[in-house]
Amino acid sequence: MHQKTIVILLFTSLSIMLANGQLDYYYYSSCPNLPMIVKYGVWAAMKNDTRIAASLLRLHFHDCFVNGCDGSVLLDDTKTFTGEKNAGPNRNSVRGFEVIDNIKADVERACPLTVSCVDILTLAAREAVVLSGGPNWPVALGRRDGLTANMKAANTNLPSPFEPLANITAKFAAVGLDSRDVVVLSGAHTIGLAQCFTFKNRLFDFKGTGQPDPDLDSSLATSLKTSCPNVDKSNTNLNSLDMVTTYKFDNAYYKNLVNNAGLLESDQALMGDPQTASMVNDYSMYPYLFYRDFATSMVKLGNIGVITGQNGQVRKKCGEVNH
Ligand code: HEM
Ligand SMILES: *[C@@H]1O[C@H](CO)[C@@H](O)[C@H](O)[C@H]1NC(C)=O
Ligand SMILES: *[C@@H]1O[C@H](CO)[C@@H](O)[C@H](O)[C@H]1NC(C)=O
Repeated sequence: MHQKTIVILLFTSLSIMLANGQLDYYYYSSCPNLPMIVKYGVWAAMKNDTRIAASLLRLHFHDCFVNGCDGSVLLDDTKTFTGEKNAGPNRNSVRGFEVIDNIKADVERACPLTVSCVDILTLAAREAVVLSGGPNWPVALGRRDGLTANMKAANTNLPSPFEPLANITAKFAAVGLDSRDVVVLSGAHTIGLAQCFTFKNRLFDFKGTGQPDPDLDSSLATSLKTSCPNVDKSNTNLNSLDMVTTYKFDNAYYKNLVNNAGLLESDQALMGDPQTASMVNDYSMYPYLFYRDFATSMVKLGNIGVITGQNGQVRKKCGEVNH
């Protein structure tokens, strides 16, 4: 074949690929400062509130498990529209919306109507991990914002801390993630906090036994009872998911599980199955193995059900579809 023909063919196939809507590392060539703007926004938010890194990471997860990564979790309810913010797993629980709105405003000033909210959230989750001391990974861009949200799917697709590991694994499988991804992404619980009601059933009368959960270290149970006394009033009190290094992205989460010191029942359940327990053991011993696998699983998470090409839109404001 003639050299020129080959070059032309290469370019056509490249542009067809782009038109077909593959994600791409150079997607926002007209917004070269995007990664720095997002990084600064996350850094400033963390300076004000250390916990926000964990919250942004979780917000990205809750976006991607419902309708794919499409910014659906960011949409506000209106008189005529029901979003996901008030779904069971989200209401009074997910946070970080203002941070995404602020970063979006900064990005709009630099590059008007160019960058989607879902790409900003995806980048912010990565920066949150990096700035917490965790691994870095490349984020390909070009996700478009969805036009809708799905409250029902938010209630059914997102895993609950009270359901068995098999059910959680099934919910991951439904979005193309395997049992290693369950173990690896659960490692996100190395940062951030949980309200007492998400694990209190383990402290007093576990499954009608009248006893605490036998898979919860008894001295940890005792100290958790202080912050989560057996009265409804304590339900929203906050506790560290990883009580050793609450805001540091490290492998302490897995060391805790090996020591029966996982906070959520769903965390400790990873030790209850030989296959997942062996992964937990590996990650507890080899932090860089965890970092490498976490990066890999986060790329998979960020690619779930993305909208690309001419579909969807670039929202002007992350809380509402353009009108
Ligand atoms: C495997 C199934 C999972 C279950 C059952 C689960 C459940 C929970 C629950 C109940 C909380 C506390 C919420 C509250 O008290 O308001 C929480 C917090 C958190 N989750 Fe998960 N989660 C899971 C997987 C994940 C994944 C895959 C990620 C991210 C990759 C993640 C990131 C986080 C983070 C960072 C926090 C702390 C948030 C903060 O402090 O604001 N979780 N999770
Ligand atoms: C700082 O963090 C607090 C606690 O999360 C939050 O209520 C407040 O809005 C934040 N302020 C700024 C300027 O981000
Ligand atoms: C787990 O999944 C099974 C089968 O889908 C279902 O019947 C059961 O109610 C689920 N358990 C919980 C606690 O959600």
